[in-house]
Amino acid sequence: MTTLSPQTATPPSPTRGVHVITWGCQMNVYDSARMQDVLRPLGFTPVDTPETAEIIILNTCHIRDKAAEKVFSELGRLRLIKEARKIRGQQTLIAVAGCVAQAEGEELLTRAPYVDIVLGPQTYHRLPDMLANAARTGKAVIDIDFPTEQKFDFLPQNETPQSPNYPTAFLTIQEGCDKFCSFCVVPYTRGAENSRPVSTILEEAKRLVDLGVRDISLLGQNVNAYHGVGPDGNLWSLARLAYELAKIPALLRIRYTTSHPRDMDDTLIAAHRDLPQLMPFLHLPVQSGSDRILRAMNRGHTASNYIDIVHRLREARPDIALSSDFIVGYPGETDEDFNATMRLVQKVGFALAYSFKYSPRPGTPAAEAPLQIPEDIKNTRLQILQKILHEQQDTFNDQLVGHSIPVLFTSRGRKQGQIVGRSPWLQPVHINGPEHLIGQERLVRITARLSHSLDGILEGNI
Ligand code: 5AD
Ligand code: SF4
Repeated sequence: MTTLSPQTATPPSPTRGVHVITWGCQMNVYDSARMQDVLRPLGFTPVDTPETAEIIILNTCHIRDKAAEKVFSELGRLRLIKEARKIRGQQTLIAVAGCVAQAEGEELLTRAPYVDIVLGPQTYHRLPDMLANAARTGKAVIDIDFPTEQKFDFLPQNETPQSPNYPTAFLTIQEGCDKFCSFCVVPYTRGAENSRPVSTILEEAKRLVDLGVRDISLLGQNVNAYHGVGPDGNLWSLARLAYELAKIPALLRIRYTTSHPRDMDDTLIAAHRDLPQLMPFLHLPVQSGSDRILRAMNRGHTASNYIDIVHRLREARPDIALSSDFIVGYPGETDEDFNATMRLVQKVGFALAYSFKYSPRPGTPAAEAPLQIPEDIKNTRLQILQKILHEQQDTFNDQLVGHSIPVLFTSRGRKQGQIVGRSPWLQPVHINGPEHLIGQERLVRITARLSHSLDGILEGNI
């Protein structure tokens, strides 16, 4: 039997595979990459299929829908793989990570006793110890603490760009949330707001840029509430961090997500005016256009606060485009409340939006609220909202046709001779062009809008 101990005397074999399945938000994508980083020094390399993996990690999301049921059904599939590998004499450890692991804890092991490790979003730096314990004792290990130590201090320096979309990368700068919107499970699963120190963020950003990354998305559940300790001992805001990051010469693009309207202050808006690197595309969830519902949601802003922020952003950076999240069918939502959301959408004009039916999360205040909205009403409202949001998205993309825009090329396209890049507004842009442009930014004239992407031709010489 292969030992999984990190103190193993034999040199690590390059054939030990770890397969990570990632569900949910960009932070889960980042966390999955970090879990691979902590396992790399033990000789584990990522593999594409669970059948070839000694460790299978399911990194879960709890934000909506039947999160736990989805997890148990996927675990059922992984159990069969584990059993098939056992017949072949191969050991497999199954780890469940992320927000469902945090929320379900012990319960997960009761329902799926073949799971070996349950770990939360704040403990993945301890994964090597958990593996060693599970392998040594044959017993399941559960670690869903909110530890006092900063997991980031325990992560190895990442040696490869974490993003499959090189030259873009995610960088977590803040985690957790103190806002307690009444529908949301995040403050319970990710814990209290916590900002990484400025110096570690700058180091990670510089390392990524040295590896060829040109577009960094700063991540946080409440990213614009960032207040990390700076090298001067003071607390730095996101704006101040952005000005500092913009000094890294080869870093062409800086983004941040997800923001809260309450934390969209003047300094951050000014940074959009001053820093060309700060991309003119902002994800700013509004959730609803009804003040009554926003109050019930405990959002701490009104519809007109939101519209005012959008005006100020557009003054500072006229080409800025907005994306947002919406929830329909929040408990007590009337037709008039829903119409207020439609009016807000018409007033703002979104380039992109995600809209969801309200999904009760156990343990959150809204789940207990009276006047839960029937499913058919939620469905109808969602359809009406999505229709206008899709139209707005198409309108936004249409107006780029005929214009030249900078595109950062990220990968080969599906068709022969095609490469794909990202616009400043994150649309995928396809051109026919040479692969050596991957990693570089070039001007592209947009020739057509497809359903979710743009076609273009390269401007000037290659
Ligand atoms: N039901 C539906 N949507 C939700 N979101 C968060 N919690 C819920 C819920 N209980 C949505 C919000 C948030 C996005 C990440 O997911 O719109 O901004
Ligand atoms: Fe959830 Fe609200 Fe915090 Fe966003 S701000 S993570 S929606 S509680």
